[in-house]
Amino acid sequence: MNILLLGSGGREHALAWKIAQSPKVSQLFIAPGNAGTSKVGTNVPLKADDFPGIKDFVLQHSVDMVVVGPEDPLVKGIYDYFLADEQLRAIPVIGPSKAGAQLEGSKDFAKGFMQRHSIPTAAYQTFDGEHLEEGLRFLETLQPPYVLKADGLCAGKGVLILPTLAEAQKELREMLGGMFGQASARVVIEEFLQGIECSVFVLTDGHDYTLLPEAKDYKRIGEGDTGLNTGGMGSVSPVPFADAQWMQKVEERIVRPTVQGLAAEGLDYKGFIFFGLINCDGDPKVIEYNCRMGDPETETVMLRIKSDLVELLEGVACGDLASRQITFDERAAVCVMLVSGGYPGHYEKGKVITGIDDVRGSVVFHAGTALSPEGQVVTSGGRVIAVSSYGANKAEALAKSFAEAQKIQFEGKYFRRDIGADL
Ligand code: AMP
Ligand code: GLY
Repeated sequence: MNILLLGSGGREHALAWKIAQSPKVSQLFIAPGNAGTSKVGTNVPLKADDFPGIKDFVLQHSVDMVVVGPEDPLVKGIYDYFLADEQLRAIPVIGPSKAGAQLEGSKDFAKGFMQRHSIPTAAYQTFDGEHLEEGLRFLETLQPPYVLKADGLCAGKGVLILPTLAEAQKELREMLGGMFGQASARVVIEEFLQGIECSVFVLTDGHDYTLLPEAKDYKRIGEGDTGLNTGGMGSVSPVPFADAQWMQKVEERIVRPTVQGLAAEGLDYKGFIFFGLINCDGDPKVIEYNCRMGDPETETVMLRIKSDLVELLEGVACGDLASRQITFDERAAVCVMLVSGGYPGHYEKGKVITGIDDVRGSVVFHAGTALSPEGQVVTSGGRVIAVSSYGANKAEALAKSFAEAQKIQFEGKYFRRDIGADL
């Protein structure tokens, strides 16, 4: 079969790497892809949200399945676009409908959904610009730190955690005043939860689900989880505290009610669900839902799926996921992200990257890379390359990634040397 994968980051390179290993795949296209995806498939110069362009391509190249990497096309309704088109209707899109993608596209929707299905999460209230005064008063009833979330998509920047009431009130005014445009027209204010986070992933066909390996990501730029938030500086899988007992709670209290809730509300959902969880004294609670895989979690999760991913994706498309088997690689997997100097603040692009071909023991996933007109691999983003490794245990896998990370060079390269050290 021919598969079109949408997206261009490290997550997409990892998905492409895994999909390309399937004997079921004849051609794999990635739109737009990056310098790394061009090694495992064919890059297509199309934006992931150019629906008419994607339609033409799919028809011209006999694409049998579309796999959506990032949230944007999903929240914009690519699933519905295919379903509404006579020529595209029979081609499965792996990802939820626009209505289902609201789990990520609207924080207020997600909170309401969890409340309706008794799924454990932080207590909250949502306010719009007309209810600013109520919002300010609500903040006075809470304990610090204060958590403010823009309702809509903000490319990972819409969550603010403020230490004082004065700062929280100031930020609430600014958010409702248009700080993130339409995305912060409504703001969710919620209780701060204390604990270690864990990302849990499932594939669902709308009635059954398959759990994928869990992972933990590292969001802050600085070692010891300090400094600004990033798109993710590394990840590890498995997560030690996510043992059988904890995962049973996750399934019973969170995963199953979510999948059943989507079905009960008539929300068409055939794709990945990403549960951003926090472990509160042994009890899992939901911090957020995403309607796609995590980045950089995918760069470890794909290493830990032993079975054919395409076989599972077919199960999603056909609605017979329950009859498909998943097997995990028992080894540990980790990923260390190499980023541009200055990231997540200002950084330069176009730096020549050398040494990738010298890497032996690890899998190199490209995130922000591009091919220069001279054919050199150059940096094109803040997060540049994920160095993913297996090991008998986490320590062994990390030692490998850190050693191989030294071989890859570009001006300004930075990475965290404490990935996984807290577990
Ligand atoms: P997000 O941008 O939605 O991934 O959220 C960013 C981060 O904010 C999360 O990964 C958590 O570390 C943190 N966060 C969000 N909500 C809460 C909460 N209610 N309590 C504590 N931390 C939170
Ligand atoms: N690693 C977090 C995310 O993908 O949103």
